[in-house]
Amino acid sequence: MAPSSVDDVAAGLRDAGYLPGDSTALVSFLAARLGKPVLVEGPAGVGKTELAKALARYLDRRLVRLQCYEGLDEAKALYEWNYRKQLLRIQAGEHDAGWDTLQDDIFGEAFLLERPLMTAIASPDPVVLLIDEIDKTDQEFEAMLLELLSDFQITIPELGRVEARTHPVVLLTSNNTRELTEALKRRCLYLWLDYPEAEQELEIVRLHTPELPETIARRLIEIVGMVRELDLKKPPSIAESIDWARALLLLGADDISPEVFRQTMSIIVKHRTDLDTVAERVGVRLGPAAPRAA
Ligand SMILES: Nc1ncnc2c1ncn2[C@@H]1O[C@H](COP(=O)(O)OP(=O)(O)O)[C@@H](O)[C@H]1O
Ligand SMILES: [Mg+2]
Repeated sequence: MAPSSVDDVAAGLRDAGYLPGDSTALVSFLAARLGKPVLVEGPAGVGKTELAKALARYLDRRLVRLQCYEGLDEAKALYEWNYRKQLLRIQAGEHDAGWDTLQDDIFGEAFLLERPLMTAIASPDPVVLLIDEIDKTDQEFEAMLLELLSDFQITIPELGRVEARTHPVVLLTSNNTRELTEALKRRCLYLWLDYPEAEQELEIVRLHTPELPETIARRLIEIVGMVRELDLKKPPSIAESIDWARALLLLGADDISPEVFRQTMSIIVKHRTDLDTVAERVGVRLGPAAPRAA
């Protein structure tokens, strides 16, 4: 099922529990129709990973995820030979068959361990492929990926070429900890996700905590906005706003009083120095804590 318009995609993502901004809906639509990979960049916690999950739900496709990390190599990303099984086969083998036959056998598909990239390419049903936090890998890995993303095929020396049977929708995410290569960017559509506008974030928070009274949700977004204006090591993201909303709901808070703020601000601010700054700058703006009732 290919989406027929940008509005289609926007509505579909909403139904899948994700509120897309205008450019998110547009780029997702183009990705699904043009078959181009999308590079999604932005700070942590603004909905990059969730976009891929929501797209999979909306398009009714399986999500295949490759979580990147430093030192990730082809064996963990593409495929690996199942040495243990090969060894067993050799030990159990009828040796009369000869080495050539045995070799053909143990380098066949049955002895291959598929890793996410291979799984995505070889899948008989089209999938959504999420290559998460690509900025954590090195440039060599990026180069290997380029080949895959332009040709949608993998060459296994002992087996030959594995061509994609179906075309995956590919999302790469980056937290922007390093500049990605121009070559990679050239092959991708680009989506920059940032902290959303207040109204948009309010809607997202309410989607995740519909039971939280709207007045509190509004107040929460307002305060998160104030906190983001400070020069912090790590400003709160949507993820923190949602966590805070859930905590307030659980605590049964009926207002974000200065007291409540002081007790719960470590949910949205997670660095020692940031906590001091926030207590000082925002805490003061909210007013002094009410004296405890005797
Ligand atoms: N547009 C959105 N609609 C619904 N939920 C969102 C949206 N953006 C972010 N979220 C929520 O915020 C949290 C963090 O999102 P995530 O995708 O993990 O961030 P990132 O991958 O950018 O670090 C998740 O719980 C996600 O559901
Ligand atoms: Mg993520």
